[in-house]
Amino acid sequence: INDFEWKMLKDSHINRESVKCEVEHSMPIILGTGNFGHVYKGEISSRDGSKRLVAVKRLNDGYKPKELGHFLMEALTLLKAGSHRNVISLEGSILLDTLAGSNAEETLEKPPILLMELADAGNLKHFLQDRRLDFETANKCIIQITETTSNGDIMIGKNLWLKDLTSISRQIAMGMNHLASKKIVHRDLAARNVLLTSNKIVKIADFGLSKHMRNLQQLYYRIHEPEMTPAKWTAPEALCDNIYSLKSDVWSFGVLLWEIFSMGKQPYLGIPVSQLYTRLYRGYRLEQPDFATKATYALMKKCWVWDPKGRTDFSKLIDDFEETLLSVA
Ligand code: ADE
Repeated sequence: INDFEWKMLKDSHINRESVKCEVEHSMPIILGTGNFGHVYKGEISSRDGSKRLVAVKRLNDGYKPKELGHFLMEALTLLKAGSHRNVISLEGSILLDTLAGSNAEETLEKPPILLMELADAGNLKHFLQDRRLDFETANKCIIQITETTSNGDIMIGKNLWLKDLTSISRQIAMGMNHLASKKIVHRDLAARNVLLTSNKIVKIADFGLSKHMRNLQQLYYRIHEPEMTPAKWTAPEALCDNIYSLKSDVWSFGVLLWEIFSMGKQPYLGIPVSQLYTRLYRGYRLEQPDFATKATYALMKKCWVWDPKGRTDFSKLIDDFEETLLSVA
């Protein structure tokens, strides 16, 4: 990391003592789990005595240097992303004492921690799956629309309606468009990595695999960690040649749309990853999901154009969803 990045990390530093994990039945409340460690519900106390709830992401004891690298990358990406209502924000970090630790024991006592905005309604995949039955019943009767507030937030009452699925999609496109403007490639965009707050604002999260591109000319980013690839969401040029770009995120967004409009189904179920590339090359694509209109499915297909140059982009997608929202209203 360079001096500028180091300064950003330093500015985001928070004292360990000011962070506490929330407990229930004397156990810490776990919000999520990855292969790196857990995300807990916690609280930061400021000097003025005020407190606020946060998500506390902590690496497992015995983490590997590479995991620390991803963690650091996540912190830096979030800092560079700045604030946007559809991107999870970094509230602080506790990394400096870990990085400065001179021996293994010392760093074990001081695990690296990221403090993030709390999105306590869970991830989008579970959210959709939990509402699938309701949604099916509702749609059998008539496609009715719940209120959507003027700024596009979803208001979910008993059911989640078609317009809400479009609003969710549009909010993710807005978050991704913001990241694209900051030259950030997410590389792991999927429903499992999109979170919801209790007032149902959609937040893009999990930047562990993300990369910041220093200049726009450097459109592509190559990586060499095939084992980390969420293959079924990954664009073919990224899958095969490790070429990641804003356009490979667009491909993943298409698969995410498919997840949304199938209410949380597993994409390419029964197709082994080893056959995926060849099938896609021959023109095979995910089928139209149960709750997508022809127009929405056409948008997905625009994300799955083989040549990245021919793919749509997030600003176009935002316009497309706005048009769809108007036509459903
Ligand atoms: N903020 C960041 N990650 C989170 C998670 N897994 N659950 C809730 N809020 C979060």
